[in-house]
Amino acid sequence: MSDQELQVNIIAELKTVIDPDLHKDIVSLGFVKNMEVKDGNVKFQVELTTPACPVKEQLKTECETKVSAVKGVKSVDVEMTAEVRAAEHSQPILTNVKNIIAVASGKGGVGKSTVSVNLAMALQMSGAKVGLMDADIYGPSIPKMLGIPITPPKGGADNKFFPHEQYGLKVVSAAFLQKEGVPLMLRGPMLGGIIQQFLQNVEWGELDYLVIDLPPGTGDVQLTLTQRAPISGAVVVTTPQEVSLIDAEKGVRMFESVKVPLLGIVENMSYFICDGCDKKHHIFKSGGGNALAEKFKIPFLTDIPLVSAVVEGGDKGVPIIMADPSSPATKAYTKLAGQVASQLSIIHADKDKPASTFELNWEG
Ligand SMILES: Nc1ncnc2c1ncn2[C@@H]1O[C@H](COP(=O)(O)OP(=O)(O)OP(=O)(O)O)[C@@H](O)[C@H]1O
Ligand SMILES: [Mg+2]
Repeated sequence: MSDQELQVNIIAELKTVIDPDLHKDIVSLGFVKNMEVKDGNVKFQVELTTPACPVKEQLKTECETKVSAVKGVKSVDVEMTAEVRAAEHSQPILTNVKNIIAVASGKGGVGKSTVSVNLAMALQMSGAKVGLMDADIYGPSIPKMLGIPITPPKGGADNKFFPHEQYGLKVVSAAFLQKEGVPLMLRGPMLGGIIQQFLQNVEWGELDYLVIDLPPGTGDVQLTLTQRAPISGAVVVTTPQEVSLIDAEKGVRMFESVKVPLLGIVENMSYFICDGCDKKHHIFKSGGGNALAEKFKIPFLTDIPLVSAVVEGGDKGVPIIMADPSSPATKAYTKLAGQVASQLSIIHADKDKPASTFELNWEG
């Protein structure tokens, strides 16, 4: 069999590999790139829509197994790559940012900032270019959680300024605009001005994902931001308690009212795993986050355990996802990042034109 014929058979086989989120085969989706077939030795790339794809390894193994089984194939080399798809921007701001993810909650103190930090880090650690905007102007906590000293941002041309950088993340926070320990005293219009600056004057460069940590509640700031920023999708954080769930529902309704797609619900401090036992202890009533997701027909992204090392990570400026890769909280945040990235890919796929069919790509 010639290499040309072999390639045709390989592509036919790859058409049986289905992306579980997009429910289409990877050839029709245009994911298979740069295939080379020489004397039965096969090399190609699979370009996913996010490096944080939760089934990346599974897809790679499936490709390797299926292609190896094609008659005439001697060796298979599959490289997994990713090109994050960009959301359509309705306004001419943040145009270098492919996806904007808002993290919100109705109630304060449910773990929004902790989720924002660890979600942003998880996306960054998967290989994506990520920024984090601390939009909690009155109670900025992101710099402390990431161990970033309070220094003024570096200015650029035309009133623009550069984000701080830490652990590979680009970070903007109102904390950098204040003298250490002295909180900003703001009146309404100044607050709006800062938000406007955050949206228009930051030199982010190219970003795959920008995570916005919103202040608690569903007041003016949240509404202004969700209307002005071209948000691709929102994550609503709740805890299992009834009071938190009621407020989370308000958050969900706010995003619905401004037509921002809901990526899903996260239930934080959902259960506790004590030392020396693997059992999940649901110390509060469980299942509320899931029920809320079902009520609004939106995804339930994940639950996150209550772990004291999460607090230590936040206090020391080293997020748990970096401090302890084996922590159950780290696993939950990594799962969350995969789910968020998948949901965004699904939103884009729904809007995209049908993918072009595979074109034979000949080397030599
Ligand atoms: N999964 C968790 N396990 C243990 N502690 C947690 C967890 N998530 C958050 N915390 C802790 O709960 C406290 C509140 O978290 P965080 O500041 O992230 O909440 P928030 O919703 O952003 O609060 P605010 O509404 O004030 O902005 C922090 O001390 C944080 O370390
Ligand atoms: Mg916060």
